[in-house]
Amino acid sequence: METVVSGIRSTGKLHLGNYYGAVKNFVKMQDEYKCFFFIADYHSLTTHPTPANLHDNVRSVLVEYLAAGIDPEKATIYVQSDVPEVVELYLYLNMNAYMGELERSTSFKDKVRSHPDNVNAGLLTYPVLMAADILIHKATKVPVGKDQEQHLEMSRTFGNRFNRMYGHEFFPEPYAFNFTDKLVKVPGLDGKGKMGKSEGEGNAVYLRDTPEIIRKKVMKAVSDGGPSEENQPKPEAIQNLFDLMKIVSAEDTYAHFDNLYNNCQIRYGDFKKQLAEDMIVATQPVRERISEIEANKTYLREVARYGAIKARESASKTIREVREIIGFKNF
Ligand code: ADP
Ligand code: TRP
Repeated sequence: METVVSGIRSTGKLHLGNYYGAVKNFVKMQDEYKCFFFIADYHSLTTHPTPANLHDNVRSVLVEYLAAGIDPEKATIYVQSDVPEVVELYLYLNMNAYMGELERSTSFKDKVRSHPDNVNAGLLTYPVLMAADILIHKATKVPVGKDQEQHLEMSRTFGNRFNRMYGHEFFPEPYAFNFTDKLVKVPGLDGKGKMGKSEGEGNAVYLRDTPEIIRKKVMKAVSDGGPSEENQPKPEAIQNLFDLMKIVSAEDTYAHFDNLYNNCQIRYGDFKKQLAEDMIVATQPVRERISEIEANKTYLREVARYGAIKARESASKTIREVREIIGFKNF
């Protein structure tokens, strides 16, 4: 059976981008594959959280994973820092990861641009740690959004380089995965680019947002004065709202508003109202379970403990083999 690994950085609440790009696929995959889903708290250290924040954020993602329907009996759910074998593999892979290729990564270049005051080495080697997360379980399928595609390519590079260097077909090649035919990019509400935590207030709709907040955010989403010619191409902000509708609404709802747009009869107020209601319905089952799961501290502790045991079992097997391949020996 193929192995699946994915994780999300614990830097805040999960939004619809995380949900449709990653978590929804986790839930479907757990019935078909051997799955490892983790909370990337080592990765979150690049942004220097306080100790209290670090733990709160990890718990928050764990709760949202469970509320979204990841079942600890089917998939292994764990906290990355409970599996220190990952750091050991990260060290080995770092020895064969080169400055040039790391500096060329799009996500690194973006971070240098957005946070020039915090260009730390952890940020530079972020894709190596991510490769270690994946290779430690010898995974072949990695459910992530479109923005992670380049990281997957780097994971293949590092795994293949290890294999070549030691003359062992050891690590299989991991590929980004989505159940639909394409990787997903969920747009934000600000009229440009993807939905993301760091894209500014109002851009993201969170799984924890109440229906009132969702309505408010969607009604405020950037639009324009409306089409003036029939069948005119949609500007980015409008296309983004239609893309969101394609994700959360029924096909005939989408077709209905698409027709209205093409006939220049669309009223953005109605369109946004419908979009907000469909977002509310799509996220309702997750939202409803969040507070109940959050209150059950014993359950959360058990899930994390059980997950750590299973993840370490798999990780320590790989590390034992890697050490042998590299040539470490006991006296
Ligand atoms: P953020 O961009 O909010 O910081 P992360 O980078 O932590 O989110 O992403 C976690 C997971 O969610 C990754 O698999 C990523 O590909 C996916 N993801 C994040 N934003 C989007 C989006 N707008 N569309 C699709 N997938 C996304
Ligand atoms: N880089 C991913 C993100 O920003 C998070 C991540 C870390 C991850 N390690 C991973 C995703 C391993 C998939 C597999 O969202």
